[in-house]
Amino acid sequence: MVKLSPSVLTADFLTLSDILPKFEKSGVDMLHLDVMDGIFVPNISFGIPVINSIKKHTSLPLDVHLMIDKPHRYIKEFAEVADWLGFHYEAGSDVGETLKEIRKYGCKSCLTIKPNTEAEEIFDFLPLCDMVLVMSVDPGFGGQKFMPSSLDKVRKIAKEAKRQGISLEIEIDGGINAETAPLAVEAGVTVLVAGNYIFSAENIEETVKSVKSL
Ligand code: DX5
Ligand code: ZN
Repeated sequence: MVKLSPSVLTADFLTLSDILPKFEKSGVDMLHLDVMDGIFVPNISFGIPVINSIKKHTSLPLDVHLMIDKPHRYIKEFAEVADWLGFHYEAGSDVGETLKEIRKYGCKSCLTIKPNTEAEEIFDFLPLCDMVLVMSVDPGFGGQKFMPSSLDKVRKIAKEAKRQGISLEIEIDGGINAETAPLAVEAGVTVLVAGNYIFSAENIEETVKSVKSL
């Protein structure tokens, strides 16, 4: 069954504590937290203090997506609050060392690629990844349109992981909704991130269940 990781980026943070129990009851698997520094992406979101507040209100694993420049500077701090910790291949850190460090601190490691990065560029790093995140929009904002070119990348990564005998999660992030989620699952995605689709739903629990049943 596909896993679901709702992104809280566009949520109303003051009402989030009412929604988190609904997520837990309806089968959400983890919570996606987008950290943006205004340098790697043209937007600023939130950091460790906000993640700590969220952590107090949920038992869901926290899936932290770092969209920050030179992420190796902050791995130790984020590893203390995250369960899954991901950073961008393009962000200017030593990729192999950063993945190893994430695991060393007891987190699941995730390597993330932007729409313009080819799947082949990260093949050598797959043995160090617990998850690969394929961006299906340019990182920075919620509510953008899904880029179908991401599906081919998912297929390539799934095929290469199999060839290398590695078991990893493949996550997709950006523009996931009722139309695009089935395409992603069919391509080999095992974790769907969804922001606007979940948070703008009239009935969040029903929407979660319908995604989970794909
Ligand atoms: C964008 C973020 C996403 C975003 C997804 O840079 O990484 O996680 O919240 O939002 P939707 O699902 O609305 O495209
Ligand atoms: Zn994200």
